[in-house]
Amino acid sequence: MPQQLELSNLPQNFLWGSATAAAQIEGAGHEDGKQDSIWDAFARVPGAVAGGDTPEVAVDHYHRMPQDVALMKRLGLQSYRFSTSWARIKPGDGDLNKQGLAFYSRLVDELLEAGILPWLTLYHWDLPQAVQEKGGWANRDTAYRFRDYASAVHDVLGDRVNHWTTFNEPLCSSLIGYAGGEHAPGLQDPVAALAAVHHQHLGHGLATRALREMGAEQIGITLNLTNAVPNDPSDPVDLDAARRLDALWNRMFLEPMLLGQYPEDLLQDVAHLGLAERIQPGDLEIISAPIDFLGVNHYHDDNVSGHPLPPGTPPGLQPTPRPKSSPFPGSEHLTFPSRNLPRTAMGWEVNPDGLRTLLVRLGQEYPNLPPLYVTENGAAYEGDEVIDGRVADPERAEYIRQHVTAVIQAVEEGADVRGYFVWSLLDNFEWAWGYEKRFGIVHVDYDSFERTIKDSGHLYASVIAEHSRVRAA
Ligand code: FCB
Repeated sequence: MPQQLELSNLPQNFLWGSATAAAQIEGAGHEDGKQDSIWDAFARVPGAVAGGDTPEVAVDHYHRMPQDVALMKRLGLQSYRFSTSWARIKPGDGDLNKQGLAFYSRLVDELLEAGILPWLTLYHWDLPQAVQEKGGWANRDTAYRFRDYASAVHDVLGDRVNHWTTFNEPLCSSLIGYAGGEHAPGLQDPVAALAAVHHQHLGHGLATRALREMGAEQIGITLNLTNAVPNDPSDPVDLDAARRLDALWNRMFLEPMLLGQYPEDLLQDVAHLGLAERIQPGDLEIISAPIDFLGVNHYHDDNVSGHPLPPGTPPGLQPTPRPKSSPFPGSEHLTFPSRNLPRTAMGWEVNPDGLRTLLVRLGQEYPNLPPLYVTENGAAYEGDEVIDGRVADPERAEYIRQHVTAVIQAVEEGADVRGYFVWSLLDNFEWAWGYEKRFGIVHVDYDSFERTIKDSGHLYASVIAEHSRVRAA
């Protein structure tokens, strides 16, 4: 199968990896000094997480880390994208927890020993609950706390870790957590959501500056970006809907970071929600500190309309019946009509060409765009089952093959893409969906915690091996 991919068109040093996040895999939710993160607390709210699942044990990576690194080595991964848990490192917003830091130190050593590049993310959604109780990201102080936490992690790991990502998908931990209510902390408050956006931006800028001063060489952020496709491109209402989604989902993040400004049209769309009032003199200069790479997470595009869906349209998939609100402050009317594309078990459209389009257009739209890495892409499908030591998951394997092809095409069209990380290494705690949705290229038995490489994992390993062969030739 890999021989059908034009791997020789990728850069020589193209990096192949896989990604996870602390709250989704570690478990040990209250061990060795760790205290609640917002996801521990949110999971206790009745109806917040499907099946009443919690991240307490997750896939027990905290105790199985060396075996998991050995698995990465078996797959031939060149890099591992993981996150550190703030609630493990500074539990309860108090003193540094040596045992927590020691875990990540052991992980980094284990990775380096296996020849795998550590790719560290400081914030993958798991704020200490104690910081939430002080207002969380709606409180400006949290940005400064984040900077201090980032510095503390660098103090311990900076001698061995070169790649630092400040935030993973800040959109989710602001808009979906504070306005939509589907993610922790589960608020439905658009004003707080936009405050959270700005304070996370500020946290990103402050941490970037601090890490740079401490000697970090590669600093970036991971954004989940989309192509906002107007449902009817000849309809001004749908065109306006696409503009609004593009502003909220993409440009509200890209422009402050790359251009040092918020988009004018966005500021107008949300004028009644206080975003402009959050911006203090000097903030945008801090936020637009140069970065060395941009991580792009992409799973699907968004076909958007400004009209209500036709009566009788089946509702989209929801993790739980808990009431939620629109995650689109100021544009609550947006709808997402179906284009009848194939869908994954999340209900997400499969459209690899969207990834190609996105990667190409970013370079065209932002002249100062740093090198890109696809830091997440992958799929959940039903029916993963271990039979005679094998997990046949042809749809996931095909999804990965098609999206790697899209990355190659983007590179051929001039996009500066330097790496690809499949989401996810292991089946894991998929946030409000609990353990119901499996994204792993490695299957986890949730009773025994046994790991079994799925066919998609073998496919991915063969792509990596084939690329090494091609570049050595
Ligand atoms: C992304 C998240 C990641 C995972 C995938 C499926 O939005 O960053 O943690 O949940 O979606």
